[in-house]
Formats: sequence, structure tokens, C-alpha cells
Amino acid sequence: MSTHLPVVGNPAAPPEPTGLTEQELEDGIVRLKKERNAVILAHYYQESEIQDLADFVGDSLQLSQAAAKTQADVIAFCGVHFMAETAKILNPTKVVVIPDLEAGCSLADGCPAPLFERWLEKYPGHTVVSYINCSADVKALSDVICTSSNAVKIVKALGDQKIVFAPDRYLGAYVKKQAGRDDIVLWQGTCMVHEAFSERRLLELMAQHPDAEVIAHPECHEGILRHAHHVASTSGLIKYAKESPSQTFIVATEAGILHKMTAEAPGKTLIAAPPEDESCSCNMCPHMRRNTLEKLYLCLRDLQPQIDVPETVRVRALQPIQRMLEMSA
Ligand code: 13P
Ligand code: SF4
Repeated sequence: MSTHLPVVGNPAAPPEPTGLTEQELEDGIVRLKKERNAVILAHYYQESEIQDLADFVGDSLQLSQAAAKTQADVIAFCGVHFMAETAKILNPTKVVVIPDLEAGCSLADGCPAPLFERWLEKYPGHTVVSYINCSADVKALSDVICTSSNAVKIVKALGDQKIVFAPDRYLGAYVKKQAGRDDIVLWQGTCMVHEAFSERRLLELMAQHPDAEVIAHPECHEGILRHAHHVASTSGLIKYAKESPSQTFIVATEAGILHKMTAEAPGKTLIAAPPEDESCSCNMCPHMRRNTLEKLYLCLRDLQPQIDVPETVRVRALQPIQRMLEMSA
């Protein structure tokens, strides 16, 4: 059983740097993965080297589906905390490790459960639809979870039920428009990466590349989405770049996606949508980028840091996740 695997090191103290070369780290990860019977799940926003070593790379929905059916004893989740937490909720007996426990998310951090619970009191009788980018405690207060790839479908399937949607107000606004539902109440959270894209600079790029298609993640604000030829989750954007006859795409989402998109759509020109501030790397998620090859090696070696979800919270959070998985099958 995975719970009997040895846990090495003190979770409170960061491990010493290994001094290993990139090649040694990669070889070590492959070896440890076998020894631990571990699976490496990675999001498209991870560093290329991590994506290349992963057993599965996907969007949030695909990663939860992969986590739900894995036979591995250990899940090394290369993504942010709420993603690894979702994997643990689905797999309470498995060890779930994340390279950096501090890899958070501005959406999850901007929706603390106690505030959310008080806010919900204003909307009795509403169905609570929460974007997967939230904590286990917020999931436990929700009726159904969604991701960017199934949010519209799930809201439409709820018929004329009264709905509150949290925590992303831009995804929420997009869902309202697509579902033709003006009345959905939105929590006012944002993704720090997708809200930083500049409409002014996007228009300049579109003028320079008149044949380019703009493809955007629905976490983007309306100033970007109104110019998008296609709006989809990360996996949906990669699929679109591959299948569209267009040769050039301006890509409005976290820049890590370009690694897989380049591989899937070889020969096409992919231009990262720019933030307003030319000097910042705001199209890279600082949380996602906390995970490194060395930290992945260390978390497989030490089985730390582990994700832990109190059982009472886990049981309540599991229901809306399972509902989502059933509605997405
Ligand atoms: P998807 O991969 O589901 O499109 O979500 C993107 C995201 O918010 C990850 O942080
Ligand atoms: Fe959260 Fe945005 Fe980073 Fe995704 S890209 S983890 S939504 S802050």
C-alpha cells in the first residue's frame, strides 16, 4: 500500500540542493518513478523539461480524469496546489506529492472559504458552480465543479436553476454569455496571468499579422476575448492550432502552452500575446514556475511535500468533483 512507502526528510525544512546536472536529474527522476511506482502528471503551463518527462500532460479536466484512474502508488503532480489537491481528494490512499507546496493560484487564493461561505448566505436556493481553481474547502461548499473545458456545458445542463459561479469573474462572464444567462451571480476573482494581457498591444500585433487568428483562454478579460477567433481550454487551444488551416496564431494564455503547441502544430507561427508592461514576464504564471526539475527529483526521492486533505473536507469536496466527472463523461 502506498501509505507504507517511506517518507524521508523534514517537510518543514527545504532539502539541500542536489548539485546534480540536468541529465543526472532526468535519469534520477526516471529511476525514482519506477522504484516508487509513481506517475508524473503535468499541466501544459509547466517548464518544457517537466512536460517532456511526464507520463501525462493535459488540461485541468484531463488531469483530474487521469488522476481518477491511475493505478500508481504515488502521484507526482506537476501543476499548482489545487490540482494536486484534487488528485488527493480522488485518491485518498495514494501518496500525492507536488514539487513545490507553495505553488498556489491567484484564483484559489482570492476565494478564502470562510468569506465564500458568508457570501453564499446571500444567495439561498442557488446552485454553487465552482471553477476547479479553488481550494478543497471551497469545493466542499460547492454543488458542482467545472473546468474551462466543460463550464459552459455544465451550466447549460443545470437548466433554469439559479446559479452562483466562483471564483473567476472572466470565465464566469464568458459562461454567462455562452449560456445566455444574464442572471448568474459571480464571485469577483481573477487569474493574475490572464488579466495582465493588453488589448492595446494585442491590436498592434493583429495589425502586424492581419492573417493571424487570435486564440484565447476564457480566463482572459473581455478586452482580449472580444478579439478572439477561438476561445477554449489549454487542450482546446492546442487542438485548434493543430487543426485550423491558418498558419499564424496569437496565443492569449500562459506561455508554457507554446511547448506542446509547437510540437502539435509544427511549422506554424505562434506568437505569445503580450502584457501591457513590456518588461515583465506576466504571461508566465509565477506559481506554475515554482516547480523545477530539481524539485521534481527531490519530491520523488523524499516523498515530500505531500498533499493532505482532512477527511471531513475531502468527503464533501469529492461529491461536486465526481458530479463534474460524470457530467463530462
Ligand atoms: P485549463 O488547463 O483547464 O485550460 O486551465 C488553465 C488553468 O487555469 C491552469 O491554471
Ligand atoms: Fe492560477 Fe492563473 Fe496561474 Fe492558472 S495561470 S495557476 S489560473 S494564477
